[in-house]
Amino acid sequence: MNTSSSALPSPALIDKFGRKVDYVRISVTDRCDFRCVYCMAEDMTFVPRQQVLSLEELALVADAFAELGVKRIRLTGGEPLVRKNVLSLIEHIGSIASLDELTLTTNGSQLEKYASELKAKGVKRINISLDSLNPQRFKQLTRTGDLAQVLTGIDCAIAAGFERIKINAVILNGRNQDEVIDLVNFACDKGIDIAFIEEMPLGLIDEHSRKLSFYSSDDIQQQLSQQHILTALNEHTGGPSRYYALANSNSRVGFISPHSHNFCHLCNRVRVTAEGRLLLCLGNEHSIDLRAILRNGGDKAALKLAIIDAMDLKPERHHFELDDSPQIVRFMNTTGG
Ligand code: GTP
Ligand code: 5AD
Ligand code: SF4
Repeated sequence: MNTSSSALPSPALIDKFGRKVDYVRISVTDRCDFRCVYCMAEDMTFVPRQQVLSLEELALVADAFAELGVKRIRLTGGEPLVRKNVLSLIEHIGSIASLDELTLTTNGSQLEKYASELKAKGVKRINISLDSLNPQRFKQLTRTGDLAQVLTGIDCAIAAGFERIKINAVILNGRNQDEVIDLVNFACDKGIDIAFIEEMPLGLIDEHSRKLSFYSSDDIQQQLSQQHILTALNEHTGGPSRYYALANSNSRVGFISPHSHNFCHLCNRVRVTAEGRLLLCLGNEHSIDLRAILRNGGDKAALKLAIIDAMDLKPERHHFELDDSPQIVRFMNTTGG
């Protein structure tokens, strides 16, 4: 791909609330080999392929952001590793000199195959979803996932030598709230981090009531304090996670609490959907269409101007309600979180 970034000084992207945007999450596909009950409906219709950004278009989008001062790019899905030839895009983004890091969020199903290549092509950190250590439960929560395959994937990621691998566990009351201590012990045994996530109401699902399944980060912390000593770390990564150190372990425990501890004032990020919609906030619909710019003859300069203008659209915060009729109809797999 011949879209390498120029050496021009980087102008910062600043929104109307003074927040600097230096982190972009790019969803490379809305497709996934899992159907997690909190993320998708059982019967999903995916975006037709011609409406998804091509790998060349995705590379141009990444270049444009990097030239605008973005330092971190996280690739998401759906499941990013089910996108054909995604490694060529990863190699391209991994070689953008001005970036501090390229990271990836994955369900782990393909890591046995790809972990070492991802590392070789410049991915620094990987976050892997794991909601249960019980094979039957794992199958129920992911509908199609195979726990053994994901556990092997986690081991392959560890063997490949990524920095600070993180497990993501979405905790649902009545489904897996009784596994939080086991999940933390698993992370400690493996020497990796773990984050517990409160479910967010993106997309209409009927598998469970999001309201009845709500399990707060405070309840998780309460459970953990029965076995572990947690000390708050005052590290603000600009991300949603509040991290704690564990006594006697190098593993960190994070809490992503969009309901109970709002973090929007620290937000440093925007995201691009697989269709090329630049979304200014996960919990709002404010967006601009980057694909339209690219497919109407626009070049990287046009993309950059549109991205700068879009900063004025970034809303102050999300307002997630805990009722069962979500204000946001798009599912998490179209934005990758
Ligand atoms: P870093 O890139 O290291 O900050 O990791 P991360 O924890 O943000 O990334 P990951 O892809 O692992 O996401 C974990 C959870 O955080 C997912 O459920 C995301 O939806 C959620 N998340 C990430 N960014 C935001 C955000 O800006 N707003 C909200 N509400 N949730 C977010
Ligand atoms: N609420 C919270 N987290 C979610 N994820 C997917 N859907 C939701 C949701 N509705 C998580 C996945 C993955 C991360 C990118 O987002 O488990 O770890
Ligand atoms: Fe796939 Fe991740 Fe959604 Fe699960 S949460 S269905 S693994 S995109």
